[in-house]
Amino acid sequence: MQAWIIGNWKQNPATIHDVNALLDDLLTTMNATEQANTAFTARCQLMLAPSFIHLTTVSARLKGTSALCAAQDISAHSATVGAYTGDCSAQQIADAGATWTILGHSERRQYHQESHDKLLQKVTHALTQDLGVVFCIGETQAQYDAQQTLEVIDSQLSVIRDLLAQQPKLIDSLSTRLIIAYEPVWAIGTGKVPTVAEVSATHQHIKQSVAGFAKSLSAITVLYGGSVNADNADSFAADSMIDGALVGGASLKAESFLAIANAFSRANT
Ligand code: 13P
Repeated sequence: MQAWIIGNWKQNPATIHDVNALLDDLLTTMNATEQANTAFTARCQLMLAPSFIHLTTVSARLKGTSALCAAQDISAHSATVGAYTGDCSAQQIADAGATWTILGHSERRQYHQESHDKLLQKVTHALTQDLGVVFCIGETQAQYDAQQTLEVIDSQLSVIRDLLAQQPKLIDSLSTRLIIAYEPVWAIGTGKVPTVAEVSATHQHIKQSVAGFAKSLSAITVLYGGSVNADNADSFAADSMIDGALVGGASLKAESFLAIANAFSRANT
C-alpha cells in the first residue's frame, strides 16, 4: 500500500517569500530523493497543506510534480458562493488548485467549535466538489487518561457513518477520496507520542469501524499525526496498521519532511 505523508503547515510560514524558500528546498530535496530512489513515488504520496492565502502559489509550483496540494479547511455554509464573510468554499479551493482538504483538525474543533453537524456539511461540500478529505480524529489528554480513546474516536467517526446513511451514493467516491488521520490532541506539538503498539491498536479499531460503515472502505488509509519527526518515523513506518503520517512542525523543513517520507518508503518495500 502506498504511504501518504502530508505536511500540515498550519498558520505558517509568515510571508510569501518564506513560502517560496520552503518550496525551493522541498522541490530540490524531492527531486534528489526521486532520483536516488526510483520507487519513491510508487511507495509514497506527498501532499502539502498551506494556509488559504498561499494555496494558489503552492498548487502552481507543485503542478507537474508528484506532490498534491490540500487546504486545511473549507466553508460549512456553502460548497460554492454566498454571503459568508471570511469563508472559502470547496469550489474556490478546487479552483485554486487543491485536490484535497483536511477537515476536523483538533485545532479547528478547539478554536472554532467544529461540531458533528458542521463537519458533516463540510465533508459533503468537499465531496460534491470532488475534493478528497483527510478527516482528523483524536482524544484529549484527559480522555486518554480516562481510557476513553476508542469511545471518542467512535463518536467522531459518526460523521462518516451519518454521511453514508444520508447519501449512500457517495460510497464509491469515498473509497478513493477519504483518509482518516488519528491525531491524539496531547501529542500535537508536544514531543509526546503514544507507543507504536497503542497507535497500531487504535488504527485497527478505526479500520474495523470504517469497514463496518461500508465494505468498500475496508482498505481505508489511516495516518498517524502528533510529534512525528525524523527520529521516530521509522518506528511508526514499521507498523503495518500505520499507512503514513500527518506532520505539523517537521513539515516546515524539507530535510525532516523528506526524512519522514523516506522512512515510510523504506518500510514499504
Ligand atoms: P506536530 O507534528 O507539530 O505535532 O503537529 C501534528 C498535527 O497537528 C498535524 O496536523
